[in-house]
Amino acid sequence: MVCLGNICRSPLAEGILQSKVNPDKVFVDSAGTAGYHVGNPPDSRSVAVARKYGLDISRQKCRRFSEMDFMEFDHIYVMDRSNYSNIADLAANAMEANKIKLLLEEVDLGIDEVPDPYYGGEDGFEKVYQMIDKACEAIAKKLN
Ligand code: 4NP
Repeated sequence: MVCLGNICRSPLAEGILQSKVNPDKVFVDSAGTAGYHVGNPPDSRSVAVARKYGLDISRQKCRRFSEMDFMEFDHIYVMDRSNYSNIADLAANAMEANKIKLLLEEVDLGIDEVPDPYYGGEDGFEKVYQMIDKACEAIAKKLN
C-alpha cells in the first residue's frame, strides 16, 4: 500500500487489508514515495479513525518505498495517479510495473483516486477510511 507520506492513507490501507486476510498467508505492508516522515507513527487522525473501527495502527512506522519492494511484493496498490507515476518510474521492467495498480480500481465508487486528507478535517479521514475499506474488502475476497 503506497501513498505520498505513508502517514495518512497507506497506513490505513495496511491495517484494514491485514485485518481482512489470513495473516499466515498474506503479508501486508505500506510505504510512502516521499521521505518526510520516515520513522514516525501514522497521523493521529488516521490512528483515531482506525481505532473507531476496532483497528490499532498506532505501532506502524513510516518508511519510504524502495526498489526492493518490487521483488518483495506481488501487488503494489497506490492511492493516486501521482503515486502511480512516482513508483512506475522506479520499476526496472514491465513485470515490476505491472504489479502497480490504483487501489480504487478494485471497486466501483465512481472515483479512482483516494484523496489526500492531510490538509483537511476529520471528515476527510472518515471518507478515506470508507473508500479504502471497500477496496480492501474486494482485494481480500481475491486473496483469501
Ligand atoms: P499521505 O498524506 O500521503 O496519505 O500519507 C500526506 C502526508 C504528509 C504529507 C503529504 C501527504 N506531507 O506533505 O507532509
